[in-house]
Amino acid sequence: MKTKLNSILSIGFMVVFMLALVAFTAPQDDWEVPAEYKTMENEFAGEDEDGIGEDLYKQHCKSCHGKEGYGDGTKANEIETEMRDLTSEEVQSQSDGELFYKGIIGRDEMPNFEKKIKDDEDRWMLVNYMRALAN
Ligand code: HEC
Repeated sequence: MKTKLNSILSIGFMVVFMLALVAFTAPQDDWEVPAEYKTMENEFAGEDEDGIGEDLYKQHCKSCHGKEGYGDGTKANEIETEMRDLTSEEVQSQSDGELFYKGIIGRDEMPNFEKKIKDDEDRWMLVNYMRALAN
C-alpha cells in the first residue's frame, strides 16, 4: 500500500516537473513586424563611428541581453520570455528594419524605447551595434 502511494506521488512530481519545464522553455511566438518597418532603409548602415550604438546598448540593453548579446544579462533570470542570442543566425538573418522595430518598439517583456532613444540616427547605430556583436 505504501509503495503504491509512493509511486503515485513520484509520478505526480514528475508530471508537475515536466509541465514546469515546458512552461519555462516555451518557444517564442512568431513576432510579426509591420511591412513598413521590415523594408525600412538603414541610411547609416555599417557605421557606429563614435560608439553611440555601443554606449546605448550598454546603457539600455545589456542588463537583459548581456554584454555580448547572448541573453545572459544580470536581469535575464527575471525574464520569462525566451531571449534569443542576438548574434545567432535566427536574429542576424532579419532585416535592419526588423531589428529596429523589435529593439525600439518592443512587445511585452521587451521594453519600448521610443521615449528613451528618440533620435533615428541613434536607433540605427544601435542596430549597427547589434550587427557588430555578431562579428
Ligand atoms: C527588460 C529586459 C530587456 C531589455 C532591457 C531589452 N530587451 Fe530586447 N528583448 C527582451 C526580451 C524578453 C525579448 C524577447 C521578446 C519576445 O520574443 O517577445 C527581447 C527581444 C529583442 C529583440 C528581438 C530578437 C529576436 O528574437 O528576433 C531585439 C532585436 C532586441 N530585443 C533588442 C533590444 C535592444 C536594442 C535593447 C536596448 C535598447 C533591448 N533589446 C533591451 C528583453 C529586453
